[in-house]
Amino acid sequence: SSDTESDTSTKSVVPTYAFAFDIDGVLIKGGQVIPEAKKAMRILNGENEDGIKVPYIFLTNGGGRTEEERCKILSAQLGIPVSPGQFICGHTPMREMAASYGTVLVVGGEGEKCRTVAEGYGFRDVITPGDIMRWKSNVTPFRKLTEDEFLNSRERDFSQVDIEAIFVFADSRHWGDDSQIIMDLLMSVNGRMGTLSTTFEEGPPIYFSHNDVVWATDFDLNRLGMGALRIMIEALYKARTGKTLNTATSFGKPQMGTFRYATKVLEQWRRDVFGENGPPQTVYFVGDTPESDIRGTNEFDKQVDEEWCSILVKTGVWQPGSEPAYKPKVTVDTVLDAIKWGMDRSR
Ligand code: G3P
Ligand code: MG
Repeated sequence: SSDTESDTSTKSVVPTYAFAFDIDGVLIKGGQVIPEAKKAMRILNGENEDGIKVPYIFLTNGGGRTEEERCKILSAQLGIPVSPGQFICGHTPMREMAASYGTVLVVGGEGEKCRTVAEGYGFRDVITPGDIMRWKSNVTPFRKLTEDEFLNSRERDFSQVDIEAIFVFADSRHWGDDSQIIMDLLMSVNGRMGTLSTTFEEGPPIYFSHNDVVWATDFDLNRLGMGALRIMIEALYKARTGKTLNTATSFGKPQMGTFRYATKVLEQWRRDVFGENGPPQTVYFVGDTPESDIRGTNEFDKQVDEEWCSILVKTGVWQPGSEPAYKPKVTVDTVLDAIKWGMDRSR
């Protein structure tokens, strides 16, 4: 495709393998690039003794911006062009649900960015918690919208609106207020604010873009992630209704749907940029979180003809000293060691 800037003109042979990279804890930590990541990318882009270029994609559970915006940031951080054609984030597969619902609540991310993302996916009527707080400021007794938030929100009479589904696109920046609004809807009649169901079987479904309980930043210890919010919502729902919340569905790794989606993206990328049809024989997946990266890769490997080979690095969520909950094919120090190991193995 024309927006793919990788130059493959010097390639001799297209390798039978490819790489897929997790981002947080593998390439980036706390917004800073992990130094070995830049070298690793240069090697895959042809700075290796055979002079071959190796296809690769990025598969992160993170999100909160459009794929285009995320790729621009990642390109600057890694010092290589990254195209949306090789990039999947937690909410990317949610685009396939845009036609299934009319009015939806989109939660998470900075400001109103996730509304833009959802509208870009084709969701027809996207509401944010800010819109609801603008409608009645006493929905959230302990926080008022700032002037900016007020200006970016949309005016609407929510006593007349049925919200058909809740999508948590990215990490919540205001857990208390977002949880309040999510709970209001889950306990409502048909997703209408201000109503209270007597059966608690009439609320909208809730979808999370991933289920990572923790993730790695540049702080010493792992930080709470979206999976932690999900645990909290499930506990609150149980406490308030006595029932189990059974409509919570998550996307992202380790879900097989996400890996299937990744396969499509990788095949398309190899076709468009490398002129190769079909899947590679081996996909090396480099991740830092056993519960999502390693688990998903290992399970997907059992389902498909090609090999999906899991590589665990020590720069993120998992730290040496404990047994990883899901065993990788190999454990290495950094992403640089990971690509060297894979390239040597497939030589
Ligand atoms: O919020 C992002 C985090 O939970 C995981 O991102 O790149 O490690 O899949 P990543
Ligand atoms: Mg990670």
